[in-house]
Amino acid sequence: MTKTILKDGEALARAAAEHFIRLASEAIAARGRFTVALSGGTTPKRLHTLLANEFRRKVDWSKVFVFFGDERFLAPYDTDSNYYMADETLLSEVDIPPENVFPFITLEVTPEESAAIYASELSRFFDETPPRLDLIFLGLGEDGHTASLFPDNEVITASPDTLVVAVHNSPKPPAERMTLSLNTINAARTVIFLVAGTGKRETLQRIENGEALPASLVNPEGTLLWLVDEAAAG
Ligand code: 6PG
Repeated sequence: MTKTILKDGEALARAAAEHFIRLASEAIAARGRFTVALSGGTTPKRLHTLLANEFRRKVDWSKVFVFFGDERFLAPYDTDSNYYMADETLLSEVDIPPENVFPFITLEVTPEESAAIYASELSRFFDETPPRLDLIFLGLGEDGHTASLFPDNEVITASPDTLVVAVHNSPKPPAERMTLSLNTINAARTVIFLVAGTGKRETLQRIENGEALPASLVNPEGTLLWLVDEAAAG
């Protein structure tokens, strides 16, 4: 586990923003575009506001394509939606073409239909299966979940050709979600975990001790980085 310990949440957000800028520049130079999946929850918010303000000019947003590691089965205008948070803190603040942003569809569909639609969008956008995103940001739940892959939930072991799965009975509200599968996450060129706060300390310890939590199963073909603040690192 390549773990970088940062002083606090602000330093963690800055380090994450610098990785974003570096990876975007490398991907655009190499392939003409940068594909990134944002994570939900609260930890990424400061990263987003740094990218939308102080670092905005360091990214060619016209060549950035934004996906989501997971989504809560809520309307896109619901303030608890991961899309809503990303739009509020980043997407509405930068010159990214709307067609470059791929939210989950959560209206007038079931979670299963939403997952299937997203999987076909990924298959259409990427010319390889599983889709290889340049960067996937992930958070860590205190129970060891990441994205919406929760302990003791059968979706963890989705069949190898499953790209996106629907989640029911999530212990973290809302109960209904959709998430990139472990297969899709592990196909990424780079995966960066953002972990802040004392609440994550014990979970990090369990992962470092080798406990098979969902977050422990993230082992991408590419680069795996853990950005952790001192409070979480203990
Ligand atoms: C969600 C996220 C989830 C989150 C972790 C950490 O939909 O809630 O995808 O996986 O990243 O629970 O959340 P915090 O950053 O709020 O601690």
